[in-house]
Amino acid sequence: MSLKKGPGSMELGECTRNPGYQDVEGGGSAAETVSADPGEKHDSAAPKLDSDAAEEYTQIKPYAGMPKEVLLQYSSQARYRVPREILFWLTVACTLVLVALTITVIALSPRCLQWWQASPVYQVYPRSFKDSNGDGVGDLKGIQEQLDHFLYLKVKSVWISPFYLSPMKDFGYDVEDFRAVDPLFGTMRDFEELLAEMHNKGLKLIMDFIPNHTSDRHRWFNLSRTRDPHYEDYYVWTDCNATAPRPNNWVSVFGNSSWTYDDVRGQCYLHQFLKEQPDLNFRNPNVYKEMTDIIHFWLEKGVDGFRMDAVKHMLEATHLRDEPQVDPSKPAESVKTEFDLHHDYTYTQLGLHDLLRGWRAVLDVYSREPGKYRFMVMESYDYQEVEKTMMYYGTPLVRESDFPFNFYLLYLPQNTSGLWVKDLVHLWMANMPKGKWPNWVVGNHDKPRIASSASQIYIRVINMLLLTLPGTPTTYYGEEIGMENINVTNSQIQDPAGKYNASASRDPGRSPMQWSGDMNAGFNIKTNSTWLPVHPDYRSVNVEVQKKDEGSVLAQYRFLNTLRQSELPLHRGWFCYVHADASVFSYLRELDGLDQAFLMVLNFGKESATTDLSSIRELPDQLKVLMSTNQINNGKVLQKSRVLTEAGEGLVIRYSTHTRFNPNHPEQCYVSEKACYLSAMDILYKC
Ligand code: GLC
Repeated sequence: MSLKKGPGSMELGECTRNPGYQDVEGGGSAAETVSADPGEKHDSAAPKLDSDAAEEYTQIKPYAGMPKEVLLQYSSQARYRVPREILFWLTVACTLVLVALTITVIALSPRCLQWWQASPVYQVYPRSFKDSNGDGVGDLKGIQEQLDHFLYLKVKSVWISPFYLSPMKDFGYDVEDFRAVDPLFGTMRDFEELLAEMHNKGLKLIMDFIPNHTSDRHRWFNLSRTRDPHYEDYYVWTDCNATAPRPNNWVSVFGNSSWTYDDVRGQCYLHQFLKEQPDLNFRNPNVYKEMTDIIHFWLEKGVDGFRMDAVKHMLEATHLRDEPQVDPSKPAESVKTEFDLHHDYTYTQLGLHDLLRGWRAVLDVYSREPGKYRFMVMESYDYQEVEKTMMYYGTPLVRESDFPFNFYLLYLPQNTSGLWVKDLVHLWMANMPKGKWPNWVVGNHDKPRIASSASQIYIRVINMLLLTLPGTPTTYYGEEIGMENINVTNSQIQDPAGKYNASASRDPGRSPMQWSGDMNAGFNIKTNSTWLPVHPDYRSVNVEVQKKDEGSVLAQYRFLNTLRQSELPLHRGWFCYVHADASVFSYLRELDGLDQAFLMVLNFGKESATTDLSSIRELPDQLKVLMSTNQINNGKVLQKSRVLTEAGEGLVIRYSTHTRFNPNHPEQCYVSEKACYLSAMDILYKC
C-alpha cells in the first residue's frame, strides 16, 4: 500500500499505514493534530484523531515521514537514543583520530626535496650551446632545439648565462638593457617560447642576474656621466687627475687600476671588471630599487631562479682609502692584479648581505605560488675565506641564497690524490651551517675545463664524485661527455681577460658544444662559422656517438644521475668518510632505517691501488660493484680487505646492512634534510 501526498509524496511500501499523517493542503500540519499535551488548545480547523486511529498509531513503527512529535516520542526511548549517541560519539572520536593522525603525519613528514636539490644544475653558455641561425654564435632557439638533451640526462635545472642586450665586451656580462634580449641570441619572444617549452617539459630556467655593474652603454651610465640629477650618483665617481687617473690603488679583477677617467664628466668612475663595465653605486637606494624592479620583471615572466653574479663586489668603502698590499715591500706601481691586494675596502662590505636578503624576500613572495619555488645561487670567489662564502646561506633567522657556489673542487687538478679531494670536500662540509644544502662545481665559463686541467683519465671519476656526494652537483655544458679545452692562438683570442693576459683567457673552455660528428660538431649545421674553433676531438667526443656506447662518459653520467635521483641514501642520506690516502677517497651514503646503502671508492691517484676496508665493520665482507667507471668491473664481487681500483677508476658499491655507520662515527658524517625510513610502512619520517 502506498501513501500519496501529491508531488512530493513518500512511498511507505508495504508498511502499516500511518494514520496520524494527513495531507493538509494549506492548513495546519498533521503534527498539530497529534500534540502529546492533552490540555493543548487545538485549532478547530485541524482534523481530529479518533481513538481507533490513535491506537493503531501507537503500534506502528517510526518511519520517515512521521510528524516530528511522533518521532520524538520514539527517539527518546533508550533503545533508539543509546545507539544513536554511541554512533555520534564514535563519529566524533574517529574525526579526532583522523585529524590527529593527519597532524602527526604532517609533523613527522620530512620536507620534500625542492627541484634545485633533486637535479644537478646544468650550465648553458648560450654563445656555445647550439647555433640555430648559422651566424656562428649559439642562441635561444638553439637551446630550445636541444631541450631533449636535458631530459635524456635527467637534468631539471638549467642555468643560462646572460642573454641580455649587450655590446658583448664581456660576452653578455656587460649589460646595456636588463629588460631586453640581445638580437644575437634572439628576441624576447624567443625567450618566452623557450621558457614555456622548458616548463612544458618540466624543466626550470635559472637566469644570470648581474647587479654589480652595467655596460658603459647603459642609459643610466650616459645619464650619470652627463650629471642628470637623478642618475648622477648611480655609479661610483670621484675626482682624479685626468692624466694619471688613479685616485687610489684599487685594481680590477681583469688587471690594472679599477678607475677610468671619463672626459664627459671630468671624473673617474670605478669598474671592478672591464672599463666598459662601470660599477653601480648601491649606496644610492634608487639603484637598489631599479635592480629590484628588474628582478620583478623576470620573475613575472616566470623564470625559476637567479645566479647572482659577482656579488661580493657590490659595495665599496666610501672613504676610498688604499687597500693593504699582500706584499708591502712591492713597489706601489707594480700592484696590478687582484692578488696583490687585501680587498678590505672593495669586497664583502658591511651591508652587502642586507641587500641580498632583500632580494631573497622578493623571490620568496613569488615562491608562494604552488610548485613555483624561486631559487637563488650566489657567485662569490672567497678563496681561503670560506666563512665569507658561508654567509650567503643566511642565518637561522634570515634566509639568503639557497646556496653559494662551492668552487673548492676547482682546485682538484692541483693535486690528484684521494686525501686532497677529501680535504676539499671536507672544507665545505665542515664549514657549512648545520642543515644547509651543499653543492659542487668543477667547471664553469670562467675556468679551464676539468677534463683538461685534471686530465681526461679523471673525468669519469669526477662525474661520479659529483653525482654521489650529498647536495646539488653543477655540470658545465660538455662535462657530461668529457669535453676538453681547445687551443686558442693569440690572434684567435676573444675573451677580454685573455686580451689583457693571454694565459688568463677563458676561451679554451668556451668552445662549441659537441653534439655529433657532423660539420661544426653539429653546433652550427648551416654555415661553416663558429665563434670559437670546435675541438678537434669532436668526431669521437660527441653526444651522438656517446649515446650509442653504454660505457661512454655520457652513459655513465646518465646512469649515475638516475641512480642519485632514485636512491634515497644518495639524495638525502648520511654522507660519511670511510677512507682517504694518496690515491683513494672512499665514503658511504646511508639512511637510518634503510638496509640498503652505498659505498664509493674513487681512485684520484696516479696508480692503481688496493684499499683495505676491513676495519669498517659496518661493511659486509663481500662487496658487489654496481657500477665501475671501468665497465668490465661492473658486477664484480670484491673482498672488503682488497678493493682494487685503477688510477681514475671509481666504484659504486651497493650493499645491505643492519648496522649503520653514522651512529658510531658521528665525527665522520654529515647529513642535510635528514630523514629516516620506516620499512613497515614504506615511508620517510622526520627523525
Ligand atoms: C662573473 C662572471 C664572469 C664575468 C664577471 C664580470 O665572475 O662569471 O664571466 O666576467 O662576473 O661580470
